[in-house]
Amino acid sequence: MDIRITKAETLKDKVDDAHLGFGQYYTDHMFIMPYDEGQGWHDAQIVPYAPFTLDPAAMVFHYAQECFEGMKAYRTPKGGVQLFRPERNARRMNSTHRRLCIPEIPEEDFVDAVKQLVALERSWVPHSPDTSLYIRPTTIATEPHLGVKPSNSYLFFIICSPVGPYYAEGLDPIKIYVEDELTRAAPGGTGFTKAGGNYAVSLAGQVKAQQLGYSQVLWLDAVHRKYVEEVGSMNCFFKVDGTIYTAPAGGTVLPGITRASCMELLADWGYPVKEEALAIDSLMAAADDGRLEEVFGTGTAAVISPVGELRYKDKSVIIHKGEIGEVTARLYATLTGIQWGTLPDEKGWIVPVD
Ligand code: COI
Repeated sequence: MDIRITKAETLKDKVDDAHLGFGQYYTDHMFIMPYDEGQGWHDAQIVPYAPFTLDPAAMVFHYAQECFEGMKAYRTPKGGVQLFRPERNARRMNSTHRRLCIPEIPEEDFVDAVKQLVALERSWVPHSPDTSLYIRPTTIATEPHLGVKPSNSYLFFIICSPVGPYYAEGLDPIKIYVEDELTRAAPGGTGFTKAGGNYAVSLAGQVKAQQLGYSQVLWLDAVHRKYVEEVGSMNCFFKVDGTIYTAPAGGTVLPGITRASCMELLADWGYPVKEEALAIDSLMAAADDGRLEEVFGTGTAAVISPVGELRYKDKSVIIHKGEIGEVTARLYATLTGIQWGTLPDEKGWIVPVD
């Protein structure tokens, strides 16, 4: 794709890797590409990072026709920069676009835009362990219009943010609150997409969980309030009696790219892996009997995150003595080894940036 590049005149100071946190700092440039009816996606550009000017009637502000992706660029030991399965993000972005009535973006253009932006921003990819450059492709509806209908204009943009671990706990197990009242996604809705609205509806549960001393919410299915689904910022896996379960990514659960990669690795290692509706009651009973061996979350931002405690209604269970389990640790070591280039990429998951 032809991308016009305008470089920033002054560059920002870089941030010390130790203080990056997650999503607090942004690089010098961004990618932008508008869509207009009759013209399609056009005028792809990389420009200096700057605020947008939008009409207050822009439809994104009123009807939330908006979505995003999350991906990362990793620094290899030899100083190279690489992406992890970026074509999967392109494909998922289009599946979200279709659900939100937004015109699709050719997958090769999406990947090309990410590669060209990251190549220009390569000095922002941090070097310290567990750091990366988080990439946030986003689409917003820009038509100024208050009738409810799909917008006739959009802006697709990509910003980049150097990041450390998503959770302050790092690899220490996190505590999770199982929400039994509020729900995140219903069948036929948008749970499988990365619509910003999915995250907006999750905030009340997250605030409640944090007030109770838990870092994240585990959502139950919206129909029965019975089966475990996902954590919102990550998919969730449960090892019970040697079998590893995760909720089916049918319609209410995000089809995570880290999730799919972990399922493939686990199957290669000979673990039985089941995508199955798993009732919270049977999980709590398994915890009581010592059969709930490990729980972990997976996601681009969260990577692999061990869960050390689950609270459901008035009861809490401690998992694996509150310590990271063997399967969780092996997945973390293997996946991060492939992503950061310290292990060979036998799966063909890596795309070098230059
Ligand atoms: C990601 O893992 O990239 C996500 O999009 C989750 C999140 C930080 C909202």
